[in-house]
Amino acid sequence: MLTVLDHPLAADLLTRLRDKRTGPAEFRSLTRRLGAVLVVEATRQIPTIPTEVQTPLEPFTGSMLGVDLVAIPVLRAGLGLLDAVTDLYPDTVVGYLGLERDEETHEPRDYYAKLPSMKGRHALLLDPMLATGGSGSAACEYVKNASPRSITFVCVVAAPEGVKRMEADHPDVPIVAGALDRQLNANAYILPGLGDFGDRLYGTEPN
Ligand code: PRP
Ligand code: URA
Repeated sequence: MLTVLDHPLAADLLTRLRDKRTGPAEFRSLTRRLGAVLVVEATRQIPTIPTEVQTPLEPFTGSMLGVDLVAIPVLRAGLGLLDAVTDLYPDTVVGYLGLERDEETHEPRDYYAKLPSMKGRHALLLDPMLATGGSGSAACEYVKNASPRSITFVCVVAAPEGVKRMEADHPDVPIVAGALDRQLNANAYILPGLGDFGDRLYGTEPN
C-alpha cells in the first residue's frame, strides 16, 4: 500500500529539494525536516501500551510506545533520512545496507550490509528515491531474510514504475512517500524528480 504525504509543510520542503539551486547544506537540512514528517507517517500504526500516570491534578491513562524500531538506511542517499528517525525515536537501533545502481543496466549491486538482530522489531527501510524499484525490492528481500516483525519502506519521491515493482515483489511492505511523480526517463531517473539524491546530498559529481 502506498501512502503519499498530504501536508503543506511536506509540499514546501519537497519543492525546495526539487529546486536545482538548492545546494548540499540546505538539501541536507530539508531532507532531515521532511524525513521527520515521513517518519511520523510511517510509524502511525506502531503498537502502544496503555500507561497510567498521575498529573498534578488526577490520574490519567495515556499510552507509551511499545515497539522496538530498527532503521536501515540504504547507502548512500538513505543516510539523509536517518537523523529524522533517531531524533524522534532515540532508542532506534540502526543497520546499514549498501546498494549502488549500475548506471547502464539500472540493476542494484550490493556492496555492504550490517544488520542488527531484527527479531520482533519493526524495520524502517530508508531510501529517498524509488525509481525502477530494483534497489527497494532488493533491500526488502535482504531485510526480510533477517525476519523483522514488519517492514515499512520510506522514500522522498516514488515513480509509478517503482511502486508497481514493490507492490508485485513485496505486497506486504507499505510504502510512505513524499510524492508520487510522473514517470522515469530513458536513464531511469524520476521525472520531474529532483535529480540524483546522493549527489545533491553530498555535493558530489555524477559518475
Ligand atoms: C539511488 C537511490 C536508490 C536507487 C533508486 O541510489 O538512493 O537506492 O538509486 O533507483 P532504483 O529504484 O532504480 O533502484 P544510487 O544507486 O544512486 O546510490 P547512492 O545512494 O550511493 O547515490
Ligand atoms: N536515483 C536518484 O537519485 N534519482 C533518481 O531520479 C533515480 C534514482
